[in-house]
Amino acid sequence: MSEETRYLTFALGKGRLANKTLELLEEIGITCEEMKDKESRKLIFVNEEQKLKFFLAKGPDVPTYVEYGAADIGVVGKDTLLEEQRRAYEVLDLGFGKCRMCVCGPQSAKELLQHHEMIRVASKYPNIAKDYFYNKKHQTVDIIKLNGSVELGPIVGLSDVIVDIVETGSTLRENGLEVLEEICPLSARMIVNQVSMKMEAERIRKLIAQIKERLS
Ligand code: PRP
Repeated sequence: MSEETRYLTFALGKGRLANKTLELLEEIGITCEEMKDKESRKLIFVNEEQKLKFFLAKGPDVPTYVEYGAADIGVVGKDTLLEEQRRAYEVLDLGFGKCRMCVCGPQSAKELLQHHEMIRVASKYPNIAKDYFYNKKHQTVDIIKLNGSVELGPIVGLSDVIVDIVETGSTLRENGLEVLEEICPLSARMIVNQVSMKMEAERIRKLIAQIKERLS
């Protein structure tokens, strides 16, 4: 890499997605030793040789960093992309972090989804819930935003149903709830800033091609 090569910056959603992404990048020869130190409180990591920078952010903030160009590339769940509605190119389905966005509740609530009556829906994803009920089902609902442990909603009587992520289904089962309707499948996606895609086309295209080949 020449002195003038600019850094390509990656924003990774903290947690499991970031770890999986780093494993995948390592398989195509992109490493960041600095980042493996779990004790470190550093927020940004640099690979001088390959002119790459990485930072860890809260999942919902990843599309924001990418839209504004603070990161060229981001890795985040499709749920977050749908919820945040930021401008960026979605270039790859990375195939991991597979789960489903669903309407869940007690079996008795299934009936409430058949008629167009007003119901209460709790969710960490109010935009996804709104889009599904208003635009796809044409059902007027009262959406209540929660920040986690959404399954509590129907259990404590806050809402009739929830819109949430289901992976293994064990959280639902252990709380007497079930999937009532499926909204869409989810997985980790790679996104690219729209300007970076043009300015750094060659490097980014090469990276995408290498990952695609690795995934196939
Ligand atoms: C997610 C999701 C469900 C659970 C689904 O929650 O909101 O609660 O995982 O997984 P399962 O089908 O395998 O049980 P997360 O652990 O992210 O925590 P949160 O409830 O605080 O959002």
